[in-house]
Amino acid sequence: MNNTSKPSTGRMPAQQWSTRFAFILAAAGAAVGLGNIWKFPYIAGENGGGAFVLVYLACIALLGLPLLMAEVLIGRRGQQNPVNSMAVLAQEAGASPLWKNVGRLGVLTGFLLLSFYVVVAGWALAYIPLTASGVFTQLQPAEIGQRFDAHLHNPWVLIGWGTLVLVLTLGIVGRGVRSGLEKAANLLMPLLFLFLLILVGYAASSGHFAKAAAFMFNPDFSKLTASGILLALGHAFFTLSIGGGAMMVYGSYLPKSVSIVRTSILIAILDTAAALLAGMAIFPIVFAHGLEPAGGPGLIFVTLPIAFGQMPFGTLFGTLFFIMLSVAALTSAFSLIEPAIAWLTEKRGMSRLKACLLGGGGIWLLSLGTVFSFNIGAEWTLAGKTFFATLDYLTSGWMLPLGALCMALFTAWVMKPEHTAEELGGRRGLWQLWLPLMRYLVPVVIVVIFLQAVGVIAL
Ligand code: TRP
Repeated sequence: MNNTSKPSTGRMPAQQWSTRFAFILAAAGAAVGLGNIWKFPYIAGENGGGAFVLVYLACIALLGLPLLMAEVLIGRRGQQNPVNSMAVLAQEAGASPLWKNVGRLGVLTGFLLLSFYVVVAGWALAYIPLTASGVFTQLQPAEIGQRFDAHLHNPWVLIGWGTLVLVLTLGIVGRGVRSGLEKAANLLMPLLFLFLLILVGYAASSGHFAKAAAFMFNPDFSKLTASGILLALGHAFFTLSIGGGAMMVYGSYLPKSVSIVRTSILIAILDTAAALLAGMAIFPIVFAHGLEPAGGPGLIFVTLPIAFGQMPFGTLFGTLFFIMLSVAALTSAFSLIEPAIAWLTEKRGMSRLKACLLGGGGIWLLSLGTVFSFNIGAEWTLAGKTFFATLDYLTSGWMLPLGALCMALFTAWVMKPEHTAEELGGRRGLWQLWLPLMRYLVPVVIVVIFLQAVGVIAL
């Protein structure tokens, strides 16, 4: 026997994507989420428009994309959940079994992230029937703001909608890779892009398209600060769903015949396109009504409803918008729990149903902390941050970059070059570029982010 240290024999076909396209849609579903639709347009506008977009594109191409390939590569070669895949590859490379903790970190990060993601996704879901009811056409702008505040202040309402998001997520994920994740992505992703294009068309015909384009794309380098660059970088990782084990577990369902390099490039392009299109769907109508492009939840849940309330067919297109936002959030939510489900079923021998009930129950309990951050628990703070803000900071600010750093070090320094080359299409391809980026640029940049976060260096 010479294969004791080889990766496992691989997954059964039922546990694999049936086509390359199915993987692309599912992974794009993971990538395109709340981050693309409410975060990206706003941070781009506030940080120098085109100048920020350029930096962001460079971050995607030079750091995000190689990392995405590395994460998919680990999953595809390991053929198991993130913990086992890391263990198997560490063994193959003759490295310490402690590397499997990177998989554990990923499972935990996804779990924590999902606990607040379901709450925010719940807002989007709640705004579908609310917008459809036409109520925004009758309310004054101030009342629309109060409406959102009232929504946040009622824990029962938040729990109800968050629970619904979680149940929908588990209902899909529980069905498994082919009949759950893949079927849902096949249906929802084309729908998402269709709605996004319809909304851009609507914004172009009835809003201030040129002004929005200027806001998002006119490069104003004087507005581009060091913290803006860090923001672009952190967002590039978050938006591609890197560092949390999601792409690792999706990669583990990828047949060996599929090119990781080509599919990853496509996923990054789809994700970037979604972010840019989202901005061009939102800002034209914000500017057409003389509203402020201020960011965060207020932009989506207050400013946009005000605009939709005043526009022809605003009720229809507003409803479409919140359906699109919910779809984007849902397909990302699948990817946040799948690492935990794969781990519980493969490592702990649970049935998928039991894993979903257990994982879902834990996430539900934890989500209460986020729910209460907006009402009865707004005062429960740690270093001035609510429970929600603390979780967000911990996961996006620390755990995801740490996961990404470990994956970079592992694939570029620990794994044998012939093995990474084998997964990435051979030594003569893009692998030649991938290796130095992963070896030097990615780790250095992530360490710089950490040093600046703890205040060792000031950028
Ligand atoms: N990329 C998603 C967004 O833009 C969020 C997300 C989904 C994610 N799965 C992830 C982030 C895994 C990090 C890791 O909203």
